[in-house]
Amino acid sequence: MKIAVVGTGYVGLVTGTCFAETGNNVTCVDIDTEKVNKLKKGKITIYEPGLDVLFDRNIKQERLKFTTNLEEGIKGAQIIFLALPTPPGEDGSADLKYVLQAASDLGHLLEEYAVVVDKSTVPVGTAEKVHAKIAENAKVDFDVVSNPEFLREGVAVEDFMKPDRVVVGTSSEKARKFMEKLYMPFVRQGNPIIFMDERSAEMTKYAANAFLATKITFMNEIANLCEKAGANVDNVRQGIGTDTRIGKRFLFAGIGYGGSCFPKDVQALEKTANEYEYDFKILKSVMNVNQEQKTKLLPQLKGHFNNDLKGKTLAVWGLSFKPYTDDIREAPSLENIHALLAEGVTIKAYDPEAMDNVKQVVGDKIEYTDSPYGALLDADALLIFTEWPVFRTPDFEVVNKLLKNKVIFDGRNLFELEQMQELGYKYYSIGREV
Ligand code: UGA
Repeated sequence: MKIAVVGTGYVGLVTGTCFAETGNNVTCVDIDTEKVNKLKKGKITIYEPGLDVLFDRNIKQERLKFTTNLEEGIKGAQIIFLALPTPPGEDGSADLKYVLQAASDLGHLLEEYAVVVDKSTVPVGTAEKVHAKIAENAKVDFDVVSNPEFLREGVAVEDFMKPDRVVVGTSSEKARKFMEKLYMPFVRQGNPIIFMDERSAEMTKYAANAFLATKITFMNEIANLCEKAGANVDNVRQGIGTDTRIGKRFLFAGIGYGGSCFPKDVQALEKTANEYEYDFKILKSVMNVNQEQKTKLLPQLKGHFNNDLKGKTLAVWGLSFKPYTDDIREAPSLENIHALLAEGVTIKAYDPEAMDNVKQVVGDKIEYTDSPYGALLDADALLIFTEWPVFRTPDFEVVNKLLKNKVIFDGRNLFELEQMQELGYKYYSIGREV
């Protein structure tokens, strides 16, 4: 099939590349000339494990192309994906200006029937708005489908190639057949393509992210209570996670969720609820708890150093919002770094992928090191913000020599309490006794 993907950000590039991998001819369209030139030269613009191999192969086989020209990009396309940003507007609701502008342009440009697919995370009712926008100028028949994306950064290729499920919202039998054909290669193992109406598909995406954010937040609150009640959240996690109704995944307590999706989508869903005059109380709590959770270690840190952090040097391991990404959007590390800098702390940080991005925000207010150990030299304590595997089994003989004090503040529970005790560390973590 011939596919166009409008918007070549994170979701657009993964989507385009993976559809090319199953033999479709894909053209990705973006207004950013610099980005498109780079992609045309075969240079990938995002860090995502495994994507580079698929990207190279499909460019070589000429199944994956790039253009800044929408008209050229959609020519002959049977399916046109909109993978455009929907940033939070001033009031926190999703801003649809990019999506609706593209819809308006498509109305002028469509020359034959096409299925236009909302891939972006968009509020309930957007498919209808996109349909109306295209219809203002359209001379041909078309359908608008909602097909939300559930991929996770860091494992996006695997999530795309072997999805747990594909959700397609459409009331058109014709569009349904196109979508079925397109996704068949991805669900060969029997995972379902779930067809539903457009509004339910749009709601499904928000409900999934809000539910997961709530699940994490619930565990974070249990962890906070465990600390006070003398329980260990690791034991509790195993104890409840083995109940198949609860499930083992997404139960890890820590210093809060971040990233470009959960914070934005929880907020947007709460706004949607407001619009329908529904008071979505649990989501308000989720947002508040998560905000507090991000800097949860700071009072303990201050307490440890007798409320005087001025002049202290702290080592930081992990800057990205989670492992296997260079993404620092809404990363707990940033909030902590800003707060610590305000206290007069010197910070030496290491992250396997995210240091360049942090440099753009924090500049040289902190020091960046070439290795995890490099950050430890003469530091008064170690802070861990991201659970990159490289931090999990450090050589503690080396750590002991470099760190001035045996103190670790671990926002991701990387180490066992017994191990820390044996090594003689003062170990602050989440939901476990100090
Ligand atoms: C999330 C969803 O998991 C995807 O299904 C969805 O497609 C995507 O948002 C999106 O809307 O585009 P992502 O933001 O890449 O994906 O990250 P996750 O792996 O879901 O992690 C989100 C946050 O939760 C991270 O900050 C992570 O550290 C935190 N988390 C996750 C925990 O604190 N504990 C856990 O047990 C799991």
